[in-house]
Amino acid sequence: MEESNTQFEKRKRDHIRIALDPRSQTAGQNGLDSVHLIHEALPDLNFKEVDISTSFLFSNAAVELSSPIFVSSMTAGHEKGRAINEALARLSDRRQILMGVGSQRRELDDPQAAEEWAQVRKQAPRARLLGNIGIAQLIRTPMDSIRKLMDSTEALGMFVHLNSLQEILQPEGTPEFKEGLKAIENLVKLSAIPVIVKEVGCGFSEATLKRLAGAGVAAVDVAGKGGTHWGRVEGYRSEENELLFKVAQTFANWGYSTAESVANAKKAGINYQIWASGGVRSGLDVAKLIALGAQKVGMAQPFLEAALRGDEALDNLMNQLELELKTSLFCTGCRTIEELQTKMVVQ
Ligand SMILES: Cc1cc2nc3c(=O)[nH]c(=O)nc-3n(C[C@H](O)[C@H](O)[C@H](O)COP(=O)(O)O)c2cc1C
Repeated sequence: MEESNTQFEKRKRDHIRIALDPRSQTAGQNGLDSVHLIHEALPDLNFKEVDISTSFLFSNAAVELSSPIFVSSMTAGHEKGRAINEALARLSDRRQILMGVGSQRRELDDPQAAEEWAQVRKQAPRARLLGNIGIAQLIRTPMDSIRKLMDSTEALGMFVHLNSLQEILQPEGTPEFKEGLKAIENLVKLSAIPVIVKEVGCGFSEATLKRLAGAGVAAVDVAGKGGTHWGRVEGYRSEENELLFKVAQTFANWGYSTAESVANAKKAGINYQIWASGGVRSGLDVAKLIALGAQKVGMAQPFLEAALRGDEALDNLMNQLELELKTSLFCTGCRTIEELQTKMVVQ
């Protein structure tokens, strides 16, 4: 059933409202409470030497970033989302961090929707944006149309999101993933920019991460369980649909936690970068995930909540995350992100 524009706008507004409701969060399930970093009482460092800068480095291109923290893909293609995306893109521009845009699906049917990014670019010309499309759309969309999505956002990379649970529980969903791996391989072959595969809050098994190793992706963002859970979000959207609501409750804690997913990547012996997100709520969480093997660490819901309060709230959030991350480095005796990745600091 094709969704009307009015239904689309309502669905996107519902997602934002429900994602901010604590019931949609699998809080405490990110797996990081049992990960401990080794305290270094005598770091051979002055705090001002601690450096959390990094880069987005693929093929020959390197884009400098002030930190490994990125804004996870959220919203796009609707009225309420515009102000949110503009605020997030200004943050990306000011602070030199990566920002995933929300699913660009709307642009496939309505080229006018790409206008959103032209407006964003006026305010945030140096924003470091990553495009986004769902696997169900990728499978049935010709490459020329996907290229337009990359161009409209001037994307540095392209996220492909995998959201099997959400597509089933969404009344207007498209649970059609057949030939998905082939579609990813094809995209990698034809794309001029790196392709990053992500989940949306259910994480990855070792076997799926192994299957992706042959596809040539630049990175997988595990987007595991521990924060916004799309089984829950779609379930609460379907309160009047008793069947979907009940099924969503059964699957309310479905998936691999973010920490488990990163551990699965280690076991899988992959040839691409691991990025981590899903229930990351502090700079200490970021540090733990980097120590476990992640190259970049993302957050969605906390940035959404701050974006709705404005630029100052977003800067305050970034200041706190950065100070927590730097504190984690200092107190483990690491000067750089690279040291945190390579030194044995996990207990
Ligand atoms: C309001 C909202 C909309 C989202 N829309 C998308 C999307 O369009 N594409 C996508 O890949 N992920 C989407 N996500 C999922 C996030 O990128 C992220 O994987 C997930 O929310 C877990 O992170 P969190 O626990 O920090 O919120 C969305 C998240 C939120 C909160």
